Amino acid sequence: MALLRSAFIALSRNRMLRRFAEHSRAGTRLSSRFVAGLEIEDALRVAADVNRQGMLVTLDSLGESVTSEAEALRAAEVYHRLLDLIAERKLQSNISVKLTQMGLSLDPALAGRIAESLATHAAATGNFVRIDMEDSSLTQVTVDIVRRLHARADLRDVIGIVIQAYLYRSQADVEQLLADGIRIRLCKGAYKEPASVAFPQKSDVDANYVRLSALLLQSPFSHGLATHDEAMVNAAIAFATEHHIPKNHFEFQMLFGVRRDLQRRLVAEGYPVRVYIPFGREWYPYFMRRLAERPANVIFLAKNLLRK
Ligand code: FDA
Repeated sequence: MALLRSAFIALSRNRMLRRFAEHSRAGTRLSSRFVAGLEIEDALRVAADVNRQGMLVTLDSLGESVTSEAEALRAAEVYHRLLDLIAERKLQSNISVKLTQMGLSLDPALAGRIAESLATHAAATGNFVRIDMEDSSLTQVTVDIVRRLHARADLRDVIGIVIQAYLYRSQADVEQLLADGIRIRLCKGAYKEPASVAFPQKSDVDANYVRLSALLLQSPFSHGLATHDEAMVNAAIAFATEHHIPKNHFEFQMLFGVRRDLQRRLVAEGYPVRVYIPFGREWYPYFMRRLAERPANVIFLAKNLLRK
């Protein structure tokens, strides 16, 4: 299983396969299992539909690791349009942004400026920017950028971060971020990390997830628990119930197309659920990380492809 996971993560970085997949019709059809569509309008349509099902949304304009400032600015422009369109259509949605798409690997100052302009725009439209977390070489710079923006009084309520339970450093990060008053999305972590920085065993990642969830649930402000793992969800619900933490004090977050049954169950039980909806032409790395999480998806997708 671990071998398959590594293989898919390696494939997610393969440029030739990526170019081929993103330009083929079959590839686009396959990706629709996890990606809302290629255009902004596709994403907004799906977001409205998810809202009608009683769930909140976060929108992700796919893309990472840009290679020029112009590319980063173009990527930012899509998010600026999204912020306006979300407000115009009164959608219950915020945005999720990857700093490498905003030029982090070229120049952290550029990514910081773009994140600041998005947060300022979000403040003006009553919205919120979640900065996604990428591989561990970028954790510190991402934390630094979010903390710096959060320190601006007008951006306090509009910027949040993601913490990955697989990293050893995450408990210390959570404690620091909670002391600052920064809203956190907790996930397990989707990248291939060495044992020097991340728990190699799934059971240790899960145990850390449960520990960190308890810290978030007890905090006076609200956070997101991003997982499709029923054991994690049930542990959070048990902890919240035992400590009389109201259902609306936190939200569960799940990816579009994953565990829709669990999403519906939680809504029916009265828990806020937010669906992460990715869209855009650059779907390949995101899609391959989803296959890495659950290789059984490959069989599922292959069957679908044959059926059409
Ligand atoms: P785990 O991988 O242990 O899976 C538990 C169960 O969930 C599986 O047995 C299966 O039933 C189901 N499941 C999980 N993944 C599935 C899939 N792809 N298809 C079908 N079923 C699946 N990561 C990161 O590094 N940085 C980030 O910023 C984010 N952001 C983020 C936002 C949101 C809203 C979510 C839900 C997830 C992320 N992630 C992320 C991804 C996260 O780190 C992790 O890789 C996945 O959520 C899978 O981990 P689970 O917690 O679901 O558990």
